[in-house]
Amino acid sequence: MLEAQAVSKYYPHSGGKIDVLNELTFTVHDHEKVAIIGPSGSGKSTLLSLLAGLDRPNSGSIKVNKDDIAVMTEQEVTAFRAKNIGIVFQQFHLMSHFTALENVALPLQIAGNHAPWDAAEEALKAVGLGARMRHFPFQMSGGECQRVAIARAMVSRPPIILADEPSGNLDLNTGTQVMDLLFDVLKESSASLILVTHNQELAKKCDRVLSLKAGKLIHD
Ligand SMILES: Nc1ncnc2c1ncn2[C@@H]1O[C@H](COP(=O)(O)OP(=O)(O)OP(=O)(O)O)[C@@H](O)[C@H]1O
Ligand SMILES: [Mg+2]
Repeated sequence: MLEAQAVSKYYPHSGGKIDVLNELTFTVHDHEKVAIIGPSGSGKSTLLSLLAGLDRPNSGSIKVNKDDIAVMTEQEVTAFRAKNIGIVFQQFHLMSHFTALENVALPLQIAGNHAPWDAAEEALKAVGLGARMRHFPFQMSGGECQRVAIARAMVSRPPIILADEPSGNLDLNTGTQVMDLLFDVLKESSASLILVTHNQELAKKCDRVLSLKAGKLIHD
């Protein structure tokens, strides 16, 4: 379970500050799929980066099963993320000089697993890329790269998957296929999903929709 309590984030700007997130409080239960929608610039990506521990809130707590990400050291949060959080970004963010297999093995290696290859292979097969293991990102299509990113996000069987416009960089057909695949692999696990999207159809596939507007969350 993920619990965000009074999470605020601002950026300093010309002597003052821009409030992006204003005391957001919400809970995401195990196995729950939650969509976050909101206009461009409303802070969706900012919120996701806080939940991933890639950035820190100015105040508030973000607890994953009682551990507060917001107060961890950099080292603690890196280890915590590798074990507990899978992330899928719009731009894939694969390591360009790593093969598909090496990209997927990476979270396991960061978590201290010295024999990551079987699990990485299995995760790639689960997204239909058994024949692309030794390919580098530049040798794969956008849809294939995003499937590698999904395998990487799922390989440690993390309790939480965060996805920021995962189909936003793909054509409609490929995007739909990739999203169907993500929902399919989620069915096999007990992970919860927090999905940022502009796509209403995709949002409707989730259990709940949260709208971000003017720094506040509107619960449906
Ligand atoms: N590092 C930063 N420094 C200053 N302002 C920032 C920074 N990062 C984001 N912002 C501002 O915070 C606000 C929220 O940005 P964010 O990227 O979270 O929006 P978003 O909802 O994801 O938008 P989009 O739908 O376009 O992806 C924007 O007004 C942006 O300009
Ligand atoms: Mg964004």
